[in-house]
Amino acid sequence: MKFFIDTANIEEIRKANELKILDGITTNPTLIAKTGKPFMEVVKEILNEVPDKPVSLEVASTDYEGMLREAEQLAKLGDNVVIKIPITIDGLKAVKYLEYNGVKTNVTLIFSPMQALLAMKAGASYISPFVGRLDDISHTGMELISQIKTIRDNYGYNSQIIIASVRNPLHVLEGALVGADIATIPYKVISQLIKHPLTDIGLERFLKDWENVPEKPF
Ligand code: E4P
Repeated sequence: MKFFIDTANIEEIRKANELKILDGITTNPTLIAKTGKPFMEVVKEILNEVPDKPVSLEVASTDYEGMLREAEQLAKLGDNVVIKIPITIDGLKAVKYLEYNGVKTNVTLIFSPMQALLAMKAGASYISPFVGRLDDISHTGMELISQIKTIRDNYGYNSQIIIASVRNPLHVLEGALVGADIATIPYKVISQLIKHPLTDIGLERFLKDWENVPEKPF
């Protein structure tokens, strides 16, 4: 399972990158706005930190021509740039065009299996179903991941399924059990995945008992 980090915060990206388990980055306009920095400054910092991992950057236009114009500008920033496009009619057309011309896309704001099917048919490299936002309105987000995976495998589409809108470690666990390709995870949840109270207690006990070991070589 690949781990992406869902943030535009460069410190979080650096910390996650130091763990050596990071496979990519996803951003969105909300995450970029949270940094309070100019768009290009944020993007360049990120691409500088991870020049060899996919970085999803979202278009701000909603019309086909505008999406392509922005995609062209963003794609020039690095070979690892993935253009994030919302699932709309214009979005699907843009995905088809960009993928045909060798630019990778990540179709975002997916909330139904049929939206995912269309994105896969358009040839998206990545698709991002939002599990947390579905859970928020009392739909089981993980069911969507499971249905999309079945459809993807039934027809052999090449799109990688990213579990997006991850809110807690259970989303990652359940996604891994379902067999999603990628989870894009906020830094806080990555930290939660590492922690376990029994690990802390066990480590404390080992350190204490280590004091009683005679003739320690180190
Ligand atoms: C996905 O690519 C989005 O950036 C993100 O996961 C949205 O998460 P949210 O629902 O917590 O805003």
